[in-house]
Amino acid sequence: MSGVLSTEHGSALNVYLDVTPGLLQGMIQYRKEKRKMHKRPRRNRQSQAIRDMVQETRLNVSNLVYPLFLEDGKNIKVEISSLPGTFRFSIDKLLREIDACVKLGLRSFILFPKVNGQLKDAQGTYSWDEKNFYLKAAKKIKEKFPNVCLISDVALDPYSSDGHDGFVKDGKIDNDLTLPLLQRMAVAQAQAGFDILGPSDMMDGRVGAMRTELDKFGYKDTGIMSYTAKYASAYYGPFRDALDSAPVINKEIPKDKKSYQMNPANSKEALIEAELDTQEGADFLMVKPALNYLDIISLLKQNFDLPIAAYHVSGECAMLIAACQNGWLNYEVAMPETLLSIRRAGADAILTYFAKDYAKWVKK
Ligand code: PBG
Repeated sequence: MSGVLSTEHGSALNVYLDVTPGLLQGMIQYRKEKRKMHKRPRRNRQSQAIRDMVQETRLNVSNLVYPLFLEDGKNIKVEISSLPGTFRFSIDKLLREIDACVKLGLRSFILFPKVNGQLKDAQGTYSWDEKNFYLKAAKKIKEKFPNVCLISDVALDPYSSDGHDGFVKDGKIDNDLTLPLLQRMAVAQAQAGFDILGPSDMMDGRVGAMRTELDKFGYKDTGIMSYTAKYASAYYGPFRDALDSAPVINKEIPKDKKSYQMNPANSKEALIEAELDTQEGADFLMVKPALNYLDIISLLKQNFDLPIAAYHVSGECAMLIAACQNGWLNYEVAMPETLLSIRRAGADAILTYFAKDYAKWVKK
């Protein structure tokens, strides 16, 4: 077919071609656009060399912190059923695991204990007991691997017979009575050799209380990675399975952690928490969870000068693993993309159960 076509602007364009009107229209459109298109973002996506050259965000293994679960005993390695690929170890096996991770280039670890029910009480006194297997394990890890950065967990829940992060009095979480308990826990952990302490309890004033007590006992170099904006999230499930640390259900006490963890609807509150932690002497500000809270990571990164940590929590990892096991997503592609997105949002340190897999992936 042939014909005379006019442009949108009305000026006649005499093109006699043996093509369909549709194709002709497309060619005219193309010629018009070509004249305008000096800017073509695809030029910088043409080859792997160019894509790598202009890549804005890079995620190194040194940005990652690998969470490890510890239980008392020997020769134990149990997989967490709701978090496939993650295990609870006894210290002998854990030392071997850390050795393997160090060989892959990982250098930072955060350690969580699963405490036997009989050792739990209302005040979490086992947390500073000198026979405490968690404290002994930290000492062993630092003896064997003096160059790794070992981070602790400061909160009552693994040790509490109520399963709360704070001390429960008259059916309520008592903020100010919790602080001295956290202080004792902090000093015991510093003494055991942890490099950085991680208060995950969300009590008001705990960073300042810990800093004061640590300094008093001479632990001026022990850092604090504060769980600054920790949300009352549905995504902690597999973690609580791993440690058996959920709030107990057969008592007249709160069944959730909403009176101390933040409302997922709030972002200004994260700024208030960050301001307080900064004033109280925190060395890191953490956002937790990570993926549903990328805006909070970015908000803190833009407003504060301290390094920002993000906890890519158990449920977030479990979701991705489940989809991959179903064949719905490809782990080798989705896992690095997920971690990169947390880094791009502004996280300097990322705590993730994928740390070891990422280190292996980088080596490939
Ligand atoms: C509790 C604590 C929790 C996590 C880290 N420390 C769970 C909670 O607040 O109930 C969750 C981490 C994860 O889900 O990976 N102090």
